Amino acid sequence: MPKRLVRLVCFAGALASPVASTAAAPAGYALAAAHPLAVSAGEEMFAAGGNAFDAAVAVSAALAVVEPYSSGFGGGGFWLLHHKGRDVFIDGRETAPGAAHRGMYLDADGKVIPGKSLDEPAAAGIPGMPAALAYIARHYGRLPLAKTLAPAIRHAEEGFAVHETYVSGVQRRLEVLRRSPEAARIFLDGGATPKVGWRLRQPELAKTLRALAAEGRAGFYRGPVAEAMVRSVRKTGGYWTLDDLANYRVKVREPVVFQHQGARIVSAPPPSSGGVALAEILNMLSLLPRGETRVERVHYLAEAMRRAYRDRSKWLGDSDFVDVPIARLTSMDYAKTLIADIRAQQATPSDAAWFKTGGEGRDTTHFSVIDAEGNRVSSTMSINYGFGCGFVAGDTGVLLNNEMDDFVSKPGAANVYGLTGGDANAIAPGKRMLSSMSPTFVDDGERIAILGTPGGSRIITMVLHGILTFLDGGDAQAIVATPRFHHQYLPDRIQFEPGALDAATRKTLTAMGHALDETETFGDMHAVVWDYRRNKLSAASDPRGHGAGRVQPAQR
Ligand code: DON
Repeated sequence: MPKRLVRLVCFAGALASPVASTAAAPAGYALAAAHPLAVSAGEEMFAAGGNAFDAAVAVSAALAVVEPYSSGFGGGGFWLLHHKGRDVFIDGRETAPGAAHRGMYLDADGKVIPGKSLDEPAAAGIPGMPAALAYIARHYGRLPLAKTLAPAIRHAEEGFAVHETYVSGVQRRLEVLRRSPEAARIFLDGGATPKVGWRLRQPELAKTLRALAAEGRAGFYRGPVAEAMVRSVRKTGGYWTLDDLANYRVKVREPVVFQHQGARIVSAPPPSSGGVALAEILNMLSLLPRGETRVERVHYLAEAMRRAYRDRSKWLGDSDFVDVPIARLTSMDYAKTLIADIRAQQATPSDAAWFKTGGEGRDTTHFSVIDAEGNRVSSTMSINYGFGCGFVAGDTGVLLNNEMDDFVSKPGAANVYGLTGGDANAIAPGKRMLSSMSPTFVDDGERIAILGTPGGSRIITMVLHGILTFLDGGDAQAIVATPRFHHQYLPDRIQFEPGALDAATRKTLTAMGHALDETETFGDMHAVVWDYRRNKLSAASDPRGHGAGRVQPAQR
């Protein structure tokens, strides 16, 4: 039987009942994350009898401490869980403060004030990470927060030697970090960029985490920690109030679920644009010719990406505030209308506009984990641009996010990732800013992949490449290593990593009307694959980063 047919047949079986009951439980656990200390934190939880959700809390907390440029307790994230045969999306995204409004980043002439949504406490949304970890620990974990937060507290208290990624992250945000006396004291070495191996100690953050461990969410969102944060944010031009913190709530959402080539794909719903965009692109691909050559494949993929990102800017926003037509956008009928003007030999121009896109695509972070009961977590977490807005709130050790830049400051104006939008993603009190973070599960009827990555606007297309590699039979290592290219409607360019498109392919694509931009490498993907037909686990960490993947017991 051809492989594709085998997959379809197996999948029909998998559809009839939850995958967890048709497949044997994994023989152990597998975990991949952006930093080795975070992987060790997860392993500690398994050794203590914890499940994947305990590991997820420990890994999230450890990443927040050891990668302060990527995520943090002053930020937020998404946790896609698989528990007892069900997929659940825990939305710990930041919210706009109650005093937020559409014009908050504009001057008297209606122009965007440079840096206000990025480099000042005014850029900070109300954090979701502490509430999300407390929620996951309470509803899904076995171990108390005092246990799952312990590795993070230890690394904050005792310090750890910083990696080259930390050093280059500081270098990029040095100016901003110097503006906050607390941030400069904690993250810099005598006001300058530390060297590799320098020990980062965060005792104030350790104290804050102890309050969270002892009191749960109240230890962060009420009482002395909340009061100190609000005082400091307001003194430095920010908008937070005690009510904003006390009213923060995690949202439990239905993920976006769709089929492609007989596989079941589960991904992020609004306020992420990831699941909808992935469904749109994959639906379009299934209607387009597969493409015999690399040129044809890149062309059709870029055209599909372009159209999905156009829809992202028009339709996507926080579905608690705006009506996002998810069912329509992810339907095959809609995909038919989207491909109608795709030509085989010619690029479709996006509206003429050029926005510079920012970032190297390694701020923000991801981990993937599965345990011996088949519990899974795919989580992407962020404080947005490197080191968030660069301010530490008072003596709490909490570095503030700059996630407000993910809203539309002004219709048509690009954010730091070159993304534009309109009403759907306009600022409103309590609203969650649109995200590209796309923690994802794929089940092809034989194997399950758990994947995700940082990378701003490019997250969605990176996850797309990961899914396509997996569906072509690729293992965890192939998923994270796949060369990447990206189109986001505006700027109207195919951005590609060195080596992703050879010279002949580039030449033909250019002749077809595609503008091409070679970038630095981008992303930091971490994937776990469970081959449940053969009961084999694998874990892989992106060769572009310095994370780690671990399988226990080790598989042959
Ligand atoms: O939620 C989002 O889409 C962004 N705040 C993610 C930022 C990110 O991945 C930064 N990495 N380059």
